[in-house]
Amino acid sequence: MIQLNRVTKYYDGVSALRDVSFLVDKGEFVFLTGPSGAGKSTLLKILFCAERADEGQIIMMGMNVFRLNPSSIPYLRRNMGFVFQDYKLLPNKTVFENIALALKVIGTPHGDIERRAYLALKKVGMEMKRHLRPPQLSGGEQQRVAVARALVNEPQVLLADEPTGNLDPESGHEVFQLFRDINMKGTTVIVATHDMEMVKKMQRRIIAMERGRVTDDGKQRIPRPGSGDATGQGKRAQ
Ligand SMILES: Nc1ncnc2c1ncn2[C@@H]1O[C@H](COP(=O)(O)OP(=O)(O)OP(=O)(O)O)[C@@H](O)[C@H]1O
Ligand SMILES: [Mg+2]
Repeated sequence: MIQLNRVTKYYDGVSALRDVSFLVDKGEFVFLTGPSGAGKSTLLKILFCAERADEGQIIMMGMNVFRLNPSSIPYLRRNMGFVFQDYKLLPNKTVFENIALALKVIGTPHGDIERRAYLALKKVGMEMKRHLRPPQLSGGEQQRVAVARALVNEPQVLLADEPTGNLDPESGHEVFQLFRDINMKGTTVIVATHDMEMVKKMQRRIIAMERGRVTDDGKQRIPRPGSGDATGQGKRAQ
């Protein structure tokens, strides 16, 4: 579903990502962890085609992202949801309009937009504030709207960058429940987070990064049915 092969990205001659390789299967739930500056956001932005890698190969949903014609980016994004670290909501549009727009750009029939946008906002507990604009919301509320926007199109791939960074533990927990639910329905989920408590609780694959490199990939650690690896201490993928 998502395959990275020796992906390298430079900013002003300094590498933010260095030889990053991994494979994420369809339907997997993966955490990206690592200290500030490790390259997590850079990696997610490259997957979302908001940044371009300088070297390496990326295949996503059968498309060669590295060689992707810019005109194909909207097509790829139709099947993706993204929660940005800084939300990126449109400040002049209401909460409702922010969500509705995400549906409109993928060609959702007009009659369905209102119902689906309302349901998505309800999932994150923001339906009562749908007529407000983002600057009128707290950071945590904006974050929940950003989560609703990423989920509303039921994407094949959900990329989330610190989606609970501004939430209290309870709201953070609810967001991870939503991610788990959407993952159970088949969406591949990749979440960058510092919330190690949640990472431990969720018991999913962890790709750890440091200074632009993958330092640990727990791909093989979770025992698979029939693998005979009852200890869960299998070989590392990297
Ligand atoms: N637009 C940019 N221009 C120059 N350097 C950048 C840019 N974006 C990121 N970097 C650099 O790339 C490196 C990785 O940054 P990135 O934002 O991917 O880290 P991160 O793992 O997401 O950190 P955090 O946990 O703080 O969000 C950092 O050293 C950062 O300074
Ligand atoms: Mg980041």
